[in-house]
Amino acid sequence: MSSACKTAILISGSGTNLQAFIDAVDHGELDLDLCVVFSNNPNAYGLQRAEKAGIPTACIQHSDYPDRASFDKAVIAELERFSPDLLVLAGFMRILSTEFVARYSGRILNIHPALLPLYPGLNTHQRVLDAGDDWHGSTVHFVTEKLDAGPRILQGRLAVNSGESAEELALRVQAIEHQIYPQAAAWVGSGAVEFRDGECWIDGKLADEPVIQTY
Ligand code: GRF
Repeated sequence: MSSACKTAILISGSGTNLQAFIDAVDHGELDLDLCVVFSNNPNAYGLQRAEKAGIPTACIQHSDYPDRASFDKAVIAELERFSPDLLVLAGFMRILSTEFVARYSGRILNIHPALLPLYPGLNTHQRVLDAGDDWHGSTVHFVTEKLDAGPRILQGRLAVNSGESAEELALRVQAIEHQIYPQAAAWVGSGAVEFRDGECWIDGKLADEPVIQTY
């Protein structure tokens, strides 16, 4: 992919990660062309963030479609108006169909608030506290058909503080996400990180483990 790769960001909610991308591009720290922000939720605050930043927005409500396949087809048609090279899922709360993932194979990124493969799914912060884990964090990974299980690119991790609440932990993890997500997307956008044969390749080498940064 070229260094100014055309990037669509898909959101469903607040969009603090989207804001991190917008800010990084504005500050000249991230060489991506944010070509569209797409939401399945017309009330997503992230749409306002995009409009304020002058980025085109698009919205299709899944409730207007009878099934996932028809919704995903409509989303693809909408996204293709902007010819994105890369899709960045940033709090996009829809599971993507096999057809959708195949259409953009190796070109979809997600961020998940846990040290995958630990804690796929929801409610990760509380689950980490309940388990008494010493470490927690967030993972940027390629999206494959299996939920929260695609090849991992970059993890940001932190030590869990004793007595910390799930809300406090969530805020600290979120701050890490705002660093690692634009960073990992830049690696993919520049071609330093690639998805090949179902695996993550970093600087031309097969990466069994993600890059890990401790905060
Ligand atoms: C993030 O915590 C991310 O890990 C998860 O969805 C959340 C999105 O938050 N996939 P925001 O809308 O970017 O604030």
